[in-house]
Order: sequence, then structure tokens, then C-alpha cells
Amino acid sequence: MSGLAIVGAQWGDEGKGKIVDYLAAEASVVVRYAGGNNAGHTVVVDDKTVRLHLVPSGILYPNVTCVIGNGVVLDPEVLADELDRLAGQGVDTSRLRISDRAHLLMPYHRDLDRLEEEARGEHRLGTTGRGVGPAYVDKAARDGIRTADLADPEGLRRRLEAVVPRKSALLQKLYGHPGYTVDEMYDYCMRHAERLLPLLVDAGRLVQEALAEGRKVLFEGAQGIMLDVDHGTYPYVTASWPTAGGIAPGVGVGPGCVGNVAGVVKAYTTRVGFGPFPTELTDEVGDLIRERGVEYGTTTGRPRRCGWLDLVQLRYAVRVSGIRQIVLTKLDVLSGLDPVRIAVGYEIDGRRVDTFPASLAELSRARPIYEDYPGWTEDLSGVTEPDELPAAARAYIRRIEELAGVPVVRVSVGPGRAQTLATGPLLW
Ligand code: IMP
Repeated sequence: MSGLAIVGAQWGDEGKGKIVDYLAAEASVVVRYAGGNNAGHTVVVDDKTVRLHLVPSGILYPNVTCVIGNGVVLDPEVLADELDRLAGQGVDTSRLRISDRAHLLMPYHRDLDRLEEEARGEHRLGTTGRGVGPAYVDKAARDGIRTADLADPEGLRRRLEAVVPRKSALLQKLYGHPGYTVDEMYDYCMRHAERLLPLLVDAGRLVQEALAEGRKVLFEGAQGIMLDVDHGTYPYVTASWPTAGGIAPGVGVGPGCVGNVAGVVKAYTTRVGFGPFPTELTDEVGDLIRERGVEYGTTTGRPRRCGWLDLVQLRYAVRVSGIRQIVLTKLDVLSGLDPVRIAVGYEIDGRRVDTFPASLAELSRARPIYEDYPGWTEDLSGVTEPDELPAAARAYIRRIEELAGVPVVRVSVGPGRAQTLATGPLLW
């Protein structure tokens, strides 16, 4: 038995939360492997809207074990608030487990994220300001504090003595921030330890055992492939690995545990923050998509930049993340647009380019080459069978499959679980 990975195939916000919730009905374990509370997953069940930032999107099912893997950076304050909020909404979170190797996102990471962004001035990245980048920096710099450290108060204090004075000096000398004392950070960690310690597990082992017992595991991606620190539009990326390649190091399992990679693709493209976006629409069509698709960040409320579907970008994502099947979301948002357009190549300096360039300078000069398709006017939100989709919508899906080289197996036409059409068998 092997797991199913659900990855965002664009710049995040593809609707992974809804899809993971929908598929989690069959899962035994849902595990997050990257990112932090920069992610915002919205799940709508009946008349209840649940917003998740750290807790995996399988939490609404009573039988699913939800795991935060070691590849996630964990802000304990945000997690505590999220768990309280979920309890207030009547959601049982007793099946949440956290890797004992996950790194804590500390208060100074939040400060550094904000202050470094300010200092970047016109070169700023447009981060979510949650401290995620600086937490990964400290992990790689061997200055991180791990959840397992909370179980050893003396060792924790020694770790903090090794790290906090240098973080504080950085905050004070470079940014005029008062910084933090070791005692403050020790008390902070111990305050959260009580709640976190009972949840800690060897997450890789938990997942491996579930797979060995033939139970279904979902690996829940956060962000999107174009935000991957290696394969995205660097430096306008997040600091972790949203690609399926991030699962092995982010959970503690071998790559063979990932049997299928399903890429969640929005029927158009959005991105938040700065950085290249070849098919961006800065006209009234872009505004229309934003309003109809409610394209405002779940985490920050920022308006998302909107544009047409970009198959140069998508083919690249399919390749670097090993996507074998596509889940297409928000197709309903395109109703009433005529034509609907798909970028099939770029023109850069008079040349046709079919592969996604690494150079930001080239990307900024890329002019999309579009294919136009007739639109449809029907409201798709009540469609329950693929055959009920208008012919033009079906042709749009077929063209995406042809251009991407992988099949579309699910189509989402609204936020509810029932608004999901099965257009082919999902490999799991
Ligand atoms: P960071 O992850 O907060 O460091 O932000 C780096 C870049 O990734 C910024 O452009 C953010 O807007 C973007 N980003 C981070 N998380 C998400 C997400 O969940 N959805 C969409 N964009 C995100």
C-alpha cells in the first residue's frame, strides 16, 4: 500500500483544503509535510466553514489521524488558537499528532520576517509575515528548537542559551528591536509544552506502520510547486518544498511511500505576493475572476493576482513534482467568460519558448501565446455528473489533459464536498 500526495500545482491557493477534506473520507491518516501557518486551507461542510492553518484538512472526520510532519514549522501559539477555535466550532481534534522532530516557529522568527521584509524595501518578497522563512533559516543554520526539546527542560534551556542571545543581538543591532531574553523564551516554550508534549510522536513511524497495515495515507501539500524554494520562481518563493519530493524528508518515510501524486490545479491562475506571473490579467477580466472566485488570501486577506491558466507553468509542475493525475478546481468561476484562454507557450525576445524559464528576467519578458476556446454561460455549481457539464466546459478539460499529458480525474465546481465530479478513477 502506498500513499496519495495532494500537491498544489500552481502558486498555492488551488483549493487543496477542500480536496483533502473530500478525499479524507477514505483515509486513515492525513499528514502535512511542509510549510507552516503561511498556509490557509478552507473547508466547507454543510453550513460550517472551517479555516485551517496548521491542522491537516482531514480533521473533520472522526476516524482520521491527522499528523503534522517534521517538515512543517510549528508556531505553538497559532496552533493553540486554532485548536481552541476548532473546539468552539464543535470539531474534535483529539486525533491530532505532531512529529517530535518538527521545528518550533519562535516569536523572534515572526519579528525577523516582518523586519527583514521592511528592510528589503522595493525588493521585498511579499511574505505572509508569519515567520516561516526565518524559522526554516534557523533549521538549516542548526539554530532551531525542536518539539522534542520541550520534553527536556534542562536541555531546552541550554539550546536557548546557544541561540537566543544571537537572535536578540541581530534584532537589536540591525533592527533596533528590544530582542528577547533566554528566560522569556524558556517560559514561552514551557507554557506551550504542556499542550504539545502529549501530541508528539515519531511521525515517520506512524505513517510507515499505517501503510504496512494497508491503511490509506494522504500526504497534504501546502503552498504550490511554483513557490518551492528550489523549483519555484526564486526568490519569490516560500522557504520549504511543496513538491511531492518534499514528502520523504518532511515526514520521515522513503520516497516509495508515495504511490500517486495528484496535482490540484485551479481552472485559472492566481498568486499572492510579488514575483513573475506571465498570464496575469490586470484588466476587468482579472477583477471579475477575483470577485467571482473570492480570490482573497485565507491567511492574510490580501487580494490575489488573477490570470488565465498557464500550461507552460503546469507542464513544468507536472514534471518537477511527478504529477500523474489532475484535480481541477473552481471551474464554476469561469462561467460567463467568453472566450476562455489557455497559455500554450511563451514568446520571449521573438522566440517561442515551451518550457518554464529559470531566469526571472526572461520570465518578465515572456508574452503568453494563447489558445482561445468558446466559453459557457451555465451555472456549474449544481452539476453532479460530468455528463451534465456544458460541452464547452468538457472541451476545456480535454484540452488541459492533452496539453498537460495527464488525466483530469476530479473536477470541483464549488466549495462543498458534493460539488466534486469524478471524471476518472483516482489512483490510490
Ligand atoms: P512566506 O511563505 O510567508 O515566506 O511567503 C513567501 C511567498 O509565498 C509569498 O509570495 C507568499 O505570498 C507566498 N505564500 C506562502 N504561503 C502561501 C499560501 O499558502 N498560498 C499562497 N501563497 C503563499
